[in-house]
Amino acid sequence: MAWYENFFDEWYLKYWIQPITEERTHREVDAIIRFLDLTPESKVLDLCCGQGRHSLELGRRGYQVIGYDLSETLLDHSRTVAQEENLNIEFISGDMRELPYRDEFDGIFNFYTAFGYFEKDEENQQVLDVVSKALKTNGKFLLDYPCLEGRMTNWKTQEYFEYDDGTIMLHEMLHDVFEQTIKNNVLYITKDNDRHRTGFTLRHYYGRELQQCFDKAGMNILEHYSTMDGAPLTNRDIRILILGQKR
Ligand SMILES: C[S@@+](CC[C@H](N)C(=O)[O-])C[C@H]1O[C@@H](n2cnc3c(N)ncnc32)[C@H](O)[C@@H]1O
Repeated sequence: MAWYENFFDEWYLKYWIQPITEERTHREVDAIIRFLDLTPESKVLDLCCGQGRHSLELGRRGYQVIGYDLSETLLDHSRTVAQEENLNIEFISGDMRELPYRDEFDGIFNFYTAFGYFEKDEENQQVLDVVSKALKTNGKFLLDYPCLEGRMTNWKTQEYFEYDDGTIMLHEMLHDVFEQTIKNNVLYITKDNDRHRTGFTLRHYYGRELQQCFDKAGMNILEHYSTMDGAPLTNRDIRILILGQKR
């Protein structure tokens, strides 16, 4: 099984996403609305919506959004919250390489590092191709992605996190410079000494490569930023926000 079929499970839902605050999600949703020029009439797709934090908040604010993801665990969570809050949001199960839409959306976004998941470059390219196909002409795509140059200024190969219930997470990050991949090994150890090993591998793309991939998919890059407020990108920034537009 590929790592992305396993990693986004109950452990991810319980622990990995804990550091993401509601305030951060609100700030990101403000940026999604602003950069994608959303109006209540717009149709928007949350590609790799996960536990639905952006889709749910957009739904609360009255926007028409569809969430799309591969993880049944995370989709179940999103659907349950939508039902509890009486929000009319469709959460659809599927692989990002096989997004089945054509000229459908005014805006699509992909947040919190959900690109570069596939071993072959053609498969990562395929994701941008289907995004472009799913957008209406002039529709916009917002990608929130890590910026390796900024991370390298303070690169850590290991980190450690302790959760309130006593569970400890150990995270090892191995950078293969030639392959442009980051292999992440993760070990959770609970208070009762249960152990869960998991991990993920990301293909890292630099800005110039992304520009070529967007272009190949039929999208121009309009802008790139380092923050949700639209600050310019420097070599110290650890994330990049890319705004593309279908030609
Ligand atoms: C890092 S999470 C981001 C979740 C969400 N966008 C957020 O901001 O919290 C990546 C998401 O991509 C989904 N995913 C992984 N592989 C996928 C695939 N092949 N097709 C569709 N979704 C996939 C995972 O299930 C997970 O929800």
